[in-house]
Amino acid sequence: MARDSGGGDASSLTVVANRLPVEVAADGQVSVSPGGLVSALSAVLSDGDRWVGWPGAGRLPSEHGQLDGVVLHPVPLTPFEMRQYYGGFANSVLWPLFHGRLREVELNRTWWRAYRTVNERFAATVIESTPLGGIVWLHDYHLLLVPRMIRRRRPDLRIGSFLHIPFPNAQLFSTLPWRKEVLLGMFGADLIGMQLPEDVDNFLAAAERCTDAVVRDRSIVLRRRSVTVGEFPISIDFEHWDALGESVVKAAAAARQRLSAAVVLLGVDRLDYTKGIVQRVEAFGELLDDRLLDPEQCVFVQVAVPSRSDLPAYRDERDDVESAIARVNARHPRADGSPVVCYLHVGLDEAELATWYRAADILVVTSLADGMNLVAKEFVASRGDGRAAVVLSEFAGSSHDLADGAVIVNPYDIEAIKHGITAAIGLSDEVKAARVAAMRAVVRRHDVRRWAEGFLERLDDVSVQSRRSAS
Ligand code: G6P
Repeated sequence: MARDSGGGDASSLTVVANRLPVEVAADGQVSVSPGGLVSALSAVLSDGDRWVGWPGAGRLPSEHGQLDGVVLHPVPLTPFEMRQYYGGFANSVLWPLFHGRLREVELNRTWWRAYRTVNERFAATVIESTPLGGIVWLHDYHLLLVPRMIRRRRPDLRIGSFLHIPFPNAQLFSTLPWRKEVLLGMFGADLIGMQLPEDVDNFLAAAERCTDAVVRDRSIVLRRRSVTVGEFPISIDFEHWDALGESVVKAAAAARQRLSAAVVLLGVDRLDYTKGIVQRVEAFGELLDDRLLDPEQCVFVQVAVPSRSDLPAYRDERDDVESAIARVNARHPRADGSPVVCYLHVGLDEAELATWYRAADILVVTSLADGMNLVAKEFVASRGDGRAAVVLSEFAGSSHDLADGAVIVNPYDIEAIKHGITAAIGLSDEVKAARVAAMRAVVRRHDVRRWAEGFLERLDDVSVQSRRSAS
């Protein structure tokens, strides 16, 4: 896309995220980072753009200083800083708080100080590396203080920030002792993007409640400038997943044969307590108990990608998921000795994921809170055959986009999940095809390129307006 330079370097985008697109392990092994941000942004990154982020425990070797022409600027962090900033403030304070306090929020003041220090270091790297008039696009809850830190020293830059996770309601947010600093930090941006309209409403209500800022329509009016807030629901690369789905048809048929079941249900999640994995396993177990499903005919494949396993809440969640699965498997042995819940605690590459997507009949997403959930979108994109259905939590952001095709359920209600699963299994082939086609049409139209370009175009517009009003 053509980027308006605002008088500076026209081809100048700096992406800032907690992780660089590659991760270097302590032993020097380089791998692709988890999370889909790299493919999400590839459509708008060009040669010479920059990416600022944590490189992993190891040192980024000089031959990996670039990725597809994008210059990587590592922000090294010590293991102690990672424990306090990433494991502590980001993932034991902000993550549970922003997901509706699904786990206890540990208000540790040392973690807050580490978060500030690490945010300063990210800001310093952006300030040093971004040319005059450049665009800075920050991602997610790890870096909420960075926009203001950058603006103070580089008012020439256009700053956008996108929150990938939900923004909690104002009352819940205002329990955070550092609520004002966090909001003022975010106000440093010209444009703040959220996933859904309700996240925008929550954010504006929190801004009114916790700061002196005036909220007008969908902007925060400060003394010398204003900050625009809007929803930009993230998506996926439709064509890519569509093609992947077609390329794995044989592998999917083989996987299906190995499972030897007439109906294959599938869950794919990072192993996180926000995903409602236990609820869905219990719902499936009860359907077997009630004899509404037959273990000889129906299996559940649960892929659980290891995540944040240093944190106690994640270790506990793993125990809970694995015990729930073991209970169902013990109650419902299959004649051939294979488990009725097939559990894969492993990270999969895209081709392997697409194989499971294509092998399944029903995808079950029961997130208790989820900014978007791209798994649901990847699943429908890879199902050009249309012989599938989706059971989808009303608390996953993607339930807004996929409402016309998915069977929407309240994941806190086990009976509702059970009904959702039986309803999805019972859909006729015709209805399945029509519903999948409806969901695919939405994802095809609102794909990730449109998301990224839409955000950057809006950032261009709002920074021009805000410059005019400041002059
Ligand atoms: C969520 C967050 C991302 C994060 C990803 C993986 O999707 O919104 O910012 O990168 O989880 O989590 P991790 O802690 O491994 O980066």
